[in-house]
Amino acid sequence: MSTVDPSMVVPRMAPAKQRSILAIASGKGGVGKTWFAITLTHALAKRQQRVLLFDGDLGLANIDIQLGLMPRHDLGSVVAGKLTLNQAATHFASGGFDVIAGRSGSGSLANIPASRLQLIADDLALMARDYDRVILDLGAGVEKAVRQLASTAHTILVVTSDEPTALTDAYAFIKINAIERPETDIRVVVNASNSTREGERTYTTLLKACQGFLRISPPLAGVVRRDTRVREAIRNQTPLLTRYPNSEAALDVEALADRLLAG
Ligand SMILES: Nc1ncnc2c1ncn2[C@@H]1O[C@H](COP(=O)(O)OP(=O)(O)O)[C@@H](O)[C@H]1O
Ligand SMILES: [Mg+2]
Repeated sequence: MSTVDPSMVVPRMAPAKQRSILAIASGKGGVGKTWFAITLTHALAKRQQRVLLFDGDLGLANIDIQLGLMPRHDLGSVVAGKLTLNQAATHFASGGFDVIAGRSGSGSLANIPASRLQLIADDLALMARDYDRVILDLGAGVEKAVRQLASTAHTILVVTSDEPTALTDAYAFIKINAIERPETDIRVVVNASNSTREGERTYTTLLKACQGFLRISPPLAGVVRRDTRVREAIRNQTPLLTRYPNSEAALDVEALADRLLAG
């Protein structure tokens, strides 16, 4: 008969929010969040950072598709209780980083119960200790599961495009976050912009709304220009920094990664 000494039972405490976790959010879908998360991860790995890329888009997980990765394991096995989060990581050798793919053999993970998701979020925070950075690709929107995963992150990069609908949805995300977790370091990325200048103007519009209505001033993390080679690289299921390292979008993400590391 085995008995457990109560003094040996360590209570399961939610680990503190990890400084190394950086979430990529957006209001609107299709603004290039997944592509940006992958490319930023790659740029950080090239800078000798140990990086884990986590596919937290529970409804439309597709990091594995964009990378042309056939992961042996994914988040579905973790949710099913077959693997620990650690075991579900795959090393993406050509990029020099680790990936936890989100695809589930049994379909979408969108309906995962909040309590289960919290256990995964807690495990991710623990796992983050083994990395310099964890990049968390979130689903679009502001629903509870997205906010729950986002709450593990110290920093959130909100991705928008120049389009007014993307901008209002980015504002909605920033607003909810400002109310629920005002301590978050939240920054803005304008992606697929026609030019750096136009991207900066888009940011200024968003900034003015944040200052006027929310009394906050989220800084600009960077502008990434629209570039036809992004689509070509995705079609080839090859990272942009591998296939077109000197393209405008690649240079913009590299510069953004440098600024991020500079503080
Ligand atoms: N900087 C960019 N320039 C041109 N096209 C882009 C850029 N960023 C993203 N895209 C396009 O947007 C599409 C959607 O990107 P994706 O990362 O899947 O968006 P999300 O994760 O926000 O839904 C991609 O297939 C790509 O063709
Ligand atoms: Mg996506």
